[in-house]
Amino acid sequence: MDGTTTAHLHDDEHPDGRKWEAVLAARTSTKPLSAEPLPAAQLIRLLDGAVGERPDGSRRYPSAHAHYPVDVFVAVGGIDGLQSGAYLFHAAESSMIPVTQRDHRHALARATLDAAWAAESPALLLLAADLDAAGRAFQAQGRGRGARYCWIEAGAVVQNVHLCAAALGLGTVFLGGIDDDAMRAAAQPVVGSSRSVLGLLPLGFAAGCLPQPVSAATACGAPGRRRRSGPDDGVNNDLLVETRGIEPLT
Ligand SMILES: Cc1cc2nc3c(=O)[nH]c(=O)nc-3n(C[C@H](O)[C@H](O)[C@H](O)COP(=O)(O)O)c2cc1C
Repeated sequence: MDGTTTAHLHDDEHPDGRKWEAVLAARTSTKPLSAEPLPAAQLIRLLDGAVGERPDGSRRYPSAHAHYPVDVFVAVGGIDGLQSGAYLFHAAESSMIPVTQRDHRHALARATLDAAWAAESPALLLLAADLDAAGRAFQAQGRGRGARYCWIEAGAVVQNVHLCAAALGLGTVFLGGIDDDAMRAAAQPVVGSSRSVLGLLPLGFAAGCLPQPVSAATACGAPGRRRRSGPDDGVNNDLLVETRGIEPLT
């Protein structure tokens, strides 16, 4: 031995078997998405899983100094049980804070470089941060450091959203190609004037598919999705703003 150790994870040593591998295998970029409405419970379950806060104040993604400068806004127009408009996901409270009742999806999608189709997806997640405030918070570490940390954190959030979407049988894709000036104008009513949009994640069903846990059959050719076969799903579509008590992702 050379002094290094290698960790081997065996199925029978891990209570969840190889579920994590199935979720990773199912992670993919899905575009375009169906305009089919998404149940509010699915949206909130994804947000809670991807960016919700743990009881000790930490989250499922890393943040320099646990500062969490990246906020998640959601522009919705096709969510069953949630009024059209835009919301800020409040990670600590696991709640959706209404920001505006106008549907901004079309204006936001037009400000992307190649994703006008995203206007039709039921929800558009916006990752946004106050880069100047982050710069001030980390100025002792050098010029530009705070903004750099925001971008890195956004990448971790993106991967969490991707993995939760895969686990729930939903589709998403990270849209980093945005026209900065057009996005500033389009997003200002949603994220305010001090935050910059770092990227968008449309969320919905893959065209022609309904959600299915990743462990099940993959009739659509993409893991975790199956063809529509009629009313699904037994999900409670009532307005669901308070999300505490939602089952963990399976
Ligand atoms: C930084 C970054 C920016 C991206 N920007 C866009 C974009 O503007 N439009 C788009 O359609 N896809 C975008 N994507 C998604 C990539 O096209 C996609 O991840 C890539 O094709 C690999 O496919 P996969 O995610 O299914 O593995 C972006 C991905 C990353 C990581």
